[in-house]
Amino acid sequence: MWDIDKIKAYLEENLTESRYIHTLGVIETAKALASINKIDLEKAEIAALAHDVAKNMNIETMRQIIEEHNIKLPYETLKTPELWHSIIAPIIGEEVFQIEDRDILNAMRWHTTGRENMTTLEKIIYMADMIEPKRSFQGVEELRKATFENLDKGFIMALNHTINYLLNKGFCIDVNTIEARNFIILNNK
Ligand SMILES: [Fe+2]
Ligand SMILES: [Fe+2]
Repeated sequence: MWDIDKIKAYLEENLTESRYIHTLGVIETAKALASINKIDLEKAEIAALAHDVAKNMNIETMRQIIEEHNIKLPYETLKTPELWHSIIAPIIGEEVFQIEDRDILNAMRWHTTGRENMTTLEKIIYMADMIEPKRSFQGVEELRKATFENLDKGFIMALNHTINYLLNKGFCIDVNTIEARNFIILNNK
């Protein structure tokens, strides 16, 4: 079973101050969304607290951990180190923090790209990461409003926003993000 103080101490050691402040914002938003969507508040808090645990880890260390754990990744994920911290997060979650809850570990794992058929907790962490109070980008207010009205509606807007952003920048789009959007638009009645 996890120990919140141990996780906090690890984060204080391993995250920059601004990343820690972002994490506190994600916790606040995730708990608010959990309460509206009838999800266990403690699970939302732990997933939010630990989601960016590897954000400031150096790229070579992350590459080694991915190799050692023999994790198979799509080509575009392997080519995008910005996504690696979400692959490492559940490994630290399990091995260092003793988090056994699969839903919490998966919410940490998929907070960057999303994926097909996400659980409510996974969507909450994905959205909280994007709309926590310190986030400022064009359209964030509408996204906050939509997400608090209806999690799936906000999630579709968020995926559209992300895919548009990546297209406009000429960046590649992770296959999991496409699958997340296809799934939610085809199954959201
Ligand atoms: Fe992240
Ligand atoms: Fe984050």
